[in-house]
Amino acid sequence: MSMGTMETVRHVLSGAVPQFLSSDLFSSNSDLVLYSRCHIKSVERRGPRYLPSLKCSSMSGCRIGSYRCKRLGGGLYRDTAIDRLKLLSCKCQQAESVGGVDTGEGNSEWFVDSANKFNLNGSINSQNNLEFEHVAQLKRENEVSMSNDKAGTGTSTFAAASVDSVEEEAWDLLRASMVYYCGSPVGTIAANDPTCSNVLNYDQVFIRDFIPSGIAFLLKGEYEIVRNFILHTLQLQSWEKTMDCHSPGQGLMPASFKVRTVPLDGDDSATEEVLDPDFGEAATGRVAPVDSGLWWIILLRAYGKCSGDLSVQERVDVQNGIKMILRLCLADGFDMFPTLLVTDGSCMIDRRMGIHGHPLEIQSLFYSALLCAREMLTLENGSADLLRALNNRLVALSFHIREYYWIDMRKLNEIYRYKTEEYSYDAVNKFNIYPDQISPWLVEWMPNKGGYLIGNLQPAHMDFRFFSLGNLWAVVSGLATTAQSHAILDLIEAKWADLVAEMPFKICYPAVEGQEWQIITGRDPKNTPWSYHNSGSWPTLLWQVTVACMKMNRPEIAAKAVSVAEKRLSRDKWPEYYDTKKARFIGKQSRLFQTWSIAGYLVAKLLLVDPSAAKILTTEEDSEIVNAFSCMITSNPRRKRGPKSSKKTYIV
Ligand code: GLC
Repeated sequence: MSMGTMETVRHVLSGAVPQFLSSDLFSSNSDLVLYSRCHIKSVERRGPRYLPSLKCSSMSGCRIGSYRCKRLGGGLYRDTAIDRLKLLSCKCQQAESVGGVDTGEGNSEWFVDSANKFNLNGSINSQNNLEFEHVAQLKRENEVSMSNDKAGTGTSTFAAASVDSVEEEAWDLLRASMVYYCGSPVGTIAANDPTCSNVLNYDQVFIRDFIPSGIAFLLKGEYEIVRNFILHTLQLQSWEKTMDCHSPGQGLMPASFKVRTVPLDGDDSATEEVLDPDFGEAATGRVAPVDSGLWWIILLRAYGKCSGDLSVQERVDVQNGIKMILRLCLADGFDMFPTLLVTDGSCMIDRRMGIHGHPLEIQSLFYSALLCAREMLTLENGSADLLRALNNRLVALSFHIREYYWIDMRKLNEIYRYKTEEYSYDAVNKFNIYPDQISPWLVEWMPNKGGYLIGNLQPAHMDFRFFSLGNLWAVVSGLATTAQSHAILDLIEAKWADLVAEMPFKICYPAVEGQEWQIITGRDPKNTPWSYHNSGSWPTLLWQVTVACMKMNRPEIAAKAVSVAEKRLSRDKWPEYYDTKKARFIGKQSRLFQTWSIAGYLVAKLLLVDPSAAKILTTEEDSEIVNAFSCMITSNPRRKRGPKSSKKTYIV
């Protein structure tokens, strides 16, 4: 047995390494699947005899020990929580389930914390819509009574008080949205709309939706839910995922998951809790969520930076998870571009909106995740090649986006005068863009001061729409240069009436209409012009706006956006999105009490108080990239041609 293997075995035996992820021990996919299936379960019994104690047991095959959870009361939702506890009467597998084997002290403590927190908050899986509504109602009543009490004390005091109460309501709603697995908080439900009969998958924990929730909890010093989320979703990464007999890559993270209570096999008096992920095999359009893994890496880094607990990112299973995501993203394909090639709807915009190819949102998240991963990857044998590939991709990606995606007045005028059909290695118009495709709206819209990164670039095609998340995250991650980042914020200020108007923030601008809408969306009634993904306004984007503004030291823009949102969000019951050019209406099919609208607002508020906290999300360009970048600009493309040098190959 090699030293490395001995070390791994020692870790496994001592519980430090989740056994199923140790590739030395389990090499086939079916082992991975079986094992992860087996341990992502908790057992609970139905029937009164199990009510008095919440004794937890383990599943056979995964059982390493047993665990007792305490049942406590208290907190805002105490009664509801206790009622539900009676219903669930959960017999949990030890909480360490996250690691797959008993990981000893550390994780047990973690579970005790979870159980305590669970009971302190007193909330439990948020299935009860009325509870949400009730919290909001109480807050509104308070606000009214406060306004009565405060009559005559001046409007500013009243405004401050009502802002405080909006924030308080948001916190209560966010806590009520927490989803529990085996008594531990593992995420937040996407929406809890009491007025909506068609729940679809809004009762699930979405990976991308949880990011603002997670950041809000981190900034509040509540680290445990984030840690649980990271570790549980990591297990789902290895889940068996197929669509019509085809499986996507191993590193794919789910779009969402649900905690289900199901009858226990062979025992109809018992139930068990299972985590049930959706990788897109059930989602509308069957699209794989490329952004999930990228967000997971970004949150993992933020967790470490904020809590100071680096032990999570250093775990062997977590390091493996990072590498699996990276391998999937860095794998060779047919691409000539360093940008990630994806299908339509593989990110926040998860329906057909004409963003297949190399959409900006994915590229910004990709760049951000590469930088975050580089910071966290531990140097060991086997990671050197991956790190080299990662570094090369960072340089190529930033060059490509900064050079070819950027437009402002000067660049637009250049494109307007492009020659076409240039067959040469040093063509100016490399992608053969026909100037006629510069849309009339853009000629009018482009401000003299400011610029932005276009939505997508393909041969003979530039998607000139302004996509907010991609641009904002390009600022946050440093994919855009400092000058470009300021120019993006300048453009946001100059185009406030279009991008913010009565609710921050338009998801993209402008809408596709008429025949273009028919062709691009496939006549999607949810994505009609100026609605939903087709230029609807999404309050959740407030947090990304704020992080970008804090990074560039321009907090006044974020403050202005927050004050616009604050006037309506609570009154309108925290909608998912708004419709119309000026965002005047609550979206046609918008959910109410959408968690990431609530969390996005809270993150923005927290950052306004402490702008330096934005550092847990921002990344800076390092000198290595800057140097490589300037070399690329000055080098002659002709000189680069020729057979690939053997020194430059790496195994990914
Ligand atoms: C919609 C959004 C998606 C979000 C999900 C849950 O599908 O397009 O971005 O994650 O709802 O809120």
